[in-house]
Amino acid sequence: MRVKTIIEPFRIKMVEPIRMTTEQERRGLLEEAGYNLFLIAAENVIIDLLTDSGTAAMSDAQWAGMMRGDESYAGARSFYRFQEKVREVTGFAQVIPTHQGRAAERILFGLLGGPGRVIPSNTHFDTTRANIEAQCAEAADLVIPEGLDPASLHPFKGNMDVERLEELILRVGPANVPVCMLTVTNNSGGGQPVSMENIRRTREVVNRHGIPLFLDACRFAENAYFIKRREPGYSQHTCTQIAREMFSYADGCTMSAKKDALVNIGGFLAMNDEELARKARNVLIVTEGFPTYGGLAGRDLEAIAQGLEEVLHEDYLAYRIRTAEYMGEKLEEAGVPFVKPPGGHAIYLDARAFAPHIPPQEFPGQAIACALYLLGGVRACEIGSVMFGRTDPQTGRHVAPPLELVRLAFPRRVYTQSHFDYVIEVIRDVYDRRESLRGMRITYEPQALRHFTARYELR
Ligand SMILES: Cc1ncc(COP(=O)(O)O)c(C=O)c1O
Repeated sequence: MRVKTIIEPFRIKMVEPIRMTTEQERRGLLEEAGYNLFLIAAENVIIDLLTDSGTAAMSDAQWAGMMRGDESYAGARSFYRFQEKVREVTGFAQVIPTHQGRAAERILFGLLGGPGRVIPSNTHFDTTRANIEAQCAEAADLVIPEGLDPASLHPFKGNMDVERLEELILRVGPANVPVCMLTVTNNSGGGQPVSMENIRRTREVVNRHGIPLFLDACRFAENAYFIKRREPGYSQHTCTQIAREMFSYADGCTMSAKKDALVNIGGFLAMNDEELARKARNVLIVTEGFPTYGGLAGRDLEAIAQGLEEVLHEDYLAYRIRTAEYMGEKLEEAGVPFVKPPGGHAIYLDARAFAPHIPPQEFPGQAIACALYLLGGVRACEIGSVMFGRTDPQTGRHVAPPLELVRLAFPRRVYTQSHFDYVIEVIRDVYDRRESLRGMRITYEPQALRHFTARYELR
């Protein structure tokens, strides 16, 4: 008999205690934080699913790499190991370390953005959009229609709508589209994968107009595993081969190593264009650091190099993707609405269907996220009207994004199955009491990326 249970493919040799809190304690903490979960101290969270970014547990080999880190200012041994590994995984010749993904974005869009420019993607992540808009360029989201339908079972809901991409390029003129991005997997769209065929077709479209294609590669390994599992012709390929093929259709990538490089800090910008890389390094020196460390310590570069090796191990990826599938199966049994099929790094609750009595301008996702914290100490993240909603300057009315989601993102190699069983129980409990959830009003918001620091009150 073959054993079917997919286990965590690691043993635990160091533990970090979780502090238990009571519902009463959490009620006070929530009020103090203005109902913003980003403003709650982590020690007051029981299961922290705020993000999968920078929250991974590193392996023994990564910690050993930390000890080997060469901290020379220029030309450190750790940089060359990092560069070699990034080249091996991506195939890009020019490798520029940055302190995290958004630093790579800022450098890229600082060079390619500007007024009148339009940068398409399947869906830009919030920092990507903010960095494009900070350069007075426009960020266009062109995911396929199925990607906006939480109930659609399309296997590659992160795909770019290539027809709309071509229309956009023809409408604004190729000279105004300095780069096309493709986010793998599509985080803001539900952590949904992009197929190899779609990457290839996106490449064909941009090729026709002489536009470079860059991957936002944060979750490239998870995307590769989905291709292996779901796309005809790839089941016998290794994830390393699949990842390499994905990158082969692109001219470069931005990368937050805090996701699929299994580290707590770091990122890179990589590309083939030598001239663009030269300009990027000049910006890097002014704002991040010398090109062989780019704002990171040598030990961080070692950990990234090792993480890029481990993330493509198929036992790891099978366990990783199974986690979301398992939670999806349990939520489905309870009738809880969520984005289907489950994404790679997270489960996204469908807040519109979960709490239909709360209109988008009263932030249903935020109300659900606060209830998850209150009832179970589980921290999740709203990805809906708080994060992407706008007030129309002419009418003063709320313009809601297509989806109202609550993301429960899974730190890599951190929580066990019983932790997930606990989270499932908390979600079911909130769902059972959904009619008592109340909408929220913002009492303070900053100019950009308001979800990080906004404050709310209950309506
Ligand atoms: C798809 C995507 N792109 C870019 C980023 C930004 O990366 P970082 O947080 O390292 O700046 C993130 C982070 O969550 C992301 O999910």
